[in-house]
Amino acid sequence: MNLVRMGVAAAALLVLASAASAADPIVIKYSHVVAENTPKGLSALKFRDLVAERLGGKVKVEVFPNSQLFNDDTVLQAMLLGDVQLAAPSLSKFEKYTQSLQIYDLPFLFKDMEAVEKFQNSPAGQKMLDSMAKKGLLGLGYLHNGMKQISASKPLRVPADAAGLKFRIMTSDVLAAQFDALKATPLKKPFSEVFTLLQTRAVDGQENTWSNIWSQKFHEVQPYITESNHGVLDYLVVTSAEFWTGMPADIRKEVKKALDESIAYGNKTSHEIAEGDRKKIADSGRTTIIQLDDRQRALWVDAMKPVWKQFEKEIGPDLIQAAADFSKP
Ligand code: SIN
Repeated sequence: MNLVRMGVAAAALLVLASAASAADPIVIKYSHVVAENTPKGLSALKFRDLVAERLGGKVKVEVFPNSQLFNDDTVLQAMLLGDVQLAAPSLSKFEKYTQSLQIYDLPFLFKDMEAVEKFQNSPAGQKMLDSMAKKGLLGLGYLHNGMKQISASKPLRVPADAAGLKFRIMTSDVLAAQFDALKATPLKKPFSEVFTLLQTRAVDGQENTWSNIWSQKFHEVQPYITESNHGVLDYLVVTSAEFWTGMPADIRKEVKKALDESIAYGNKTSHEIAEGDRKKIADSGRTTIIQLDDRQRALWVDAMKPVWKQFEKEIGPDLIQAAADFSKP
């Protein structure tokens, strides 16, 4: 082949290669740590399906549940490195990136999920979505799981019952303070390790939602669950600013629309899932659900609420009051 022919062939190859890459879809890897039959698991699958329906060929969503790709302690760093594009860690797991989300961990701040949603939709709640922009992370929306319960190897009816026990917690100083207030020992551990920690009695208990307790089978290795509803476990769907703003504007708009719809779907199903999973746990006969009477509940509030004061300076007293107002009768 002479030089001219070689040049033409090389140019043709280049054109083919760039045509192929122009046709390659944008891949969104969505990593999370829970099972698929949970509000987050179902919402992620809904997002994948909506994107395939509306943007098939242009955008492809790959969902990795059950900490298959990253656990919550590593996923945000991986996101900033471009190894994953979407995740929805619990609001308790952003401490390294922003302090503003700490408010969601304050015990007994929200009386139910309705109060949580009202606060999230308020200007203060919406402002928090952008609280990590300077660190390269964008909050795209809040996704619900539900209210937390406390499980343990012994019955916990009053706060003094928890004294001296070890509890697995998410990576949050507020949650650590909450268990310190009970004179218990909190241990920050990834979600993927909780079942084994409980099964081997390396810890005595943990706090989680009905859907996480059911889907991870915690109730099979924890003989007691106190229905405390003392705190909220919700998620922030998060992406890297570099990835998000790098998408063509028209595609980004469609992706956001699909994401919003999948979040609304997850939020709508979260209530039914919580009720259904609570019933399945009760019916399983593997654990005893302890309901608190008014006097016992007041003792838990008295024991845990001083944590608000401890974090008042970091979070802001006005913000705490604004959130608390949504739980007023
Ligand atoms: C999750 O729901 O994503 C995990 C919660 C936990 O770490 O306990």
